[in-house]
Amino acid sequence: MKIKSAEFVISNTKLDLCPAPNMPEYAFIGRSNVGKSSLINYLTNNKKLSKISQTPGKTQLINHFLINDNWYLVDLPGYGYAKTSQKNRLKWQGFISEYILTRENLLNLFVLIDSRLPPQKIDLDFMEWLGEKQVPFAIVFTKIDKVSSSVLNKNLLHYKKEMLKYWATMPPSFTSSSESKIGGEKILNYIEEINSTWN
Ligand code: GTP
Ligand code: MG
Repeated sequence: MKIKSAEFVISNTKLDLCPAPNMPEYAFIGRSNVGKSSLINYLTNNKKLSKISQTPGKTQLINHFLINDNWYLVDLPGYGYAKTSQKNRLKWQGFISEYILTRENLLNLFVLIDSRLPPQKIDLDFMEWLGEKQVPFAIVFTKIDKVSSSVLNKNLLHYKKEMLKYWATMPPSFTSSSESKIGGEKILNYIEEINSTWN
């Protein structure tokens, strides 16, 4: 799928102020600084669409972007950044869990994971929570320009091993680099496939 148009629609913390749920929607989530906003800009080929920063915690709101006039891409704030207790981490900002659990047109969540790191508890816990809540998701391993292919393969295998302790099968997963523009097409084709199930 090619992206022909991408427009910012609205930012907010309130579910009832999000656009009407009448088109397929996909959201990007993951630890602060993992590259959610960068991936949105790469996919839409627009460096200025979503704000990027080297400082974690840049995205603070639910940001809706309308793509090709017929589906939404949503940039969410990251987790694991706010100075909060372990217990509070998964509950980080009620509006995000409310969004994830109740947004009726959210067809798939993309959980972004830094490909440079070994499996992190906070990401594994978050995906287990998605599993408990039966929220469909896929993984995107980001920043692959920053690792050698041998380290990448080692980390991916390690991830798979950890995931299979909880999951019967691996969720769909992708690798990407917004910097080197790698992996976007597969993500967009996956979205296109899911879009075709929307009626
Ligand atoms: P929050 O909004 O704070 O949750 O962060 P985010 O996940 O939206 O991350 P963001 O896109 O703002 O990127 C964080 C930093 O990582 C920025 O300095 C980006 O330039 C850098 N970055 C993002 N993606 C890539 C990538 O694929 N490769 C490299 N080398 N750097 C990247
Ligand atoms: Mg961001």
